[in-house]
Amino acid sequence: MADSFDAIVIGGGPGGYNAAIRLGQLGLTAACVDKRGSFGGTCLNIGCIPSKALLHASERLHEAQNDFARIGIKAQVELDLPAMMAQKDKVVGELTKGVEYLFRKNKVEGIVGEARITAPGKVDVKGKDGAVRSLTAKHIIIATGSDVAPLPGVTIDEQQIVSSTGALSLKTVPKKMLVVGAGVIGLELGSVWKRLGSEVTVIEFLDRITPGIDLEVSKAFQRILAKQGMTFQLSTKVTGVEKTKTGLSVTVEPAQGGEKSVIEADVMLVCIGRRPYTENLGLEKAGVALDKRGRVVTDNHYKTNVPGIYAVGDCREGPMLAHKAEDEAVAVAELIAGKAGHVNYDAIPSVVYTFPEVATVGKTEEELVAAGVKYKVGKFPFTANARAKTIMATDGFVKILADAKTDKVLGCHIIGPEAGNLLAEAVLAMEFGASSEDIARSCHSHPTLSEAVRQASMAVEGWTMQM
Ligand code: FAD
Ligand code: NAI
Repeated sequence: MADSFDAIVIGGGPGGYNAAIRLGQLGLTAACVDKRGSFGGTCLNIGCIPSKALLHASERLHEAQNDFARIGIKAQVELDLPAMMAQKDKVVGELTKGVEYLFRKNKVEGIVGEARITAPGKVDVKGKDGAVRSLTAKHIIIATGSDVAPLPGVTIDEQQIVSSTGALSLKTVPKKMLVVGAGVIGLELGSVWKRLGSEVTVIEFLDRITPGIDLEVSKAFQRILAKQGMTFQLSTKVTGVEKTKTGLSVTVEPAQGGEKSVIEADVMLVCIGRRPYTENLGLEKAGVALDKRGRVVTDNHYKTNVPGIYAVGDCREGPMLAHKAEDEAVAVAELIAGKAGHVNYDAIPSVVYTFPEVATVGKTEEELVAAGVKYKVGKFPFTANARAKTIMATDGFVKILADAKTDKVLGCHIIGPEAGNLLAEAVLAMEFGASSEDIARSCHSHPTLSEAVRQASMAVEGWTMQM
């Protein structure tokens, strides 16, 4: 095996494995190193994929228990948690093995071990057996991802006090689950355990859930989740947690200080964000600059301050999303191969896979107001969409924001069934610089949920016909 490559990619998540595959496709020799033992990074092993498997399974259980009778199906179903977890693990296993196959197909060498940059162009990889293999390359791509942000004073044991990783593998359904942080992980995994039978209380520091998401959508989201039985305590912080004979005693108080109170729980899920992961990578010695938040600093060609060293994905700035990492991976590989790699950060979608889903792209109303941009709004509720009626999923709406003068689509925010899939149309529209009228005048199949996107676009100019 050669120890010299055109490029070495450190990290085998969506940023790393996609960069290595694209390099291989472009005829460059590449190695992808990951210390985890299976490729796919956070996304495939402990993130996107296992969480979506559990969201899907728990949603089916909830549907069978609560909705079947309404459509004339009599069924008695019960949870088999070990089988649900086994199915999730099977999907993870198949997809991580799939990355190994893609490496072979594209002549990428996948290496299991901990990588450390010893100098520009030089990487040492320590294998599981402790043996060190020294590699050289013209280019090094850092794609080491992110890790759970800790809650000061709280030790995660992944049994009772868990991060997302522990919450994806609980052995029993907790009677009471306390979720700290009303962000994406808290609401997705909170939904999973709520549907499986837990009482879920969400503690959030801010006065709203899902910061960053369009406020009108976020408020509707909270109302819908509350209707499903999730309890929220906003503007609240956790100040301590004690293990008791029966579970956990969690002390909370108002975010700005005030009277303390205690909440009893069986499991506490800490999900207050993630932070870039660059530990033991040799960055200091190699002279690679980090910003105040520990992210690798790059220019818009993903180059760090050290020639020949690049970074993509969660370890650099921008949203911590698998598809953002993937797009940066493709761009950096193409740039290294002398092509014109580019990512349009104005059109990166973001989806919360609860029921209903929340999907957003582009600017929120709050951002447009703050930037002084004049805009028009078109909205359409799923209660008026025929397909939503037939599938009994009428909660939510589509909202299109378009430039007041040019009608160019500036943002699309959806809360409703299949919102993640519906959003793709708006992403494409934005990528093509389309106007809301372009969407409004495109023929949409009937009866589909996508007609709600069309009707919301018609609403921008006030000619919605189905309301
Ligand atoms: P990672 O996927 O974190 O991969 C980095 C890899 O680098 C890791 O495998 C690590 O072992 C390895 N590594 C680190 N240091 C070294 C070293 N020195 N040597 C060798 N290897 C090293 N995003 C979405 O878009 N959609 C979702 O639905 C979604 N769901 C999520 C659910 C959860 C519970 C979590 C935690 C995250 C979720 N995300 C989701 C976020 C998504 O997982 C990340 O944005 C994505 O994985 C980032 O990709 P990455 O390649 O930058 O890093
Ligand atoms: P998050 O940033 O989405 O949400 C964290 C929440 O915790 C925020 O609402 C924040 O105000 C709150 N918070 C912060 N400190 C707090 C404190 N001390 N007490 C109470 N609340 C506090 O982070 P989360 O949910 O941990 O997810 C991390 C990242 O993983 C996401 O930002 C996203 O990038 C990625 N992810 C994406 C998913 C998707 O695309 N569907 C799913 C899961 C994760």
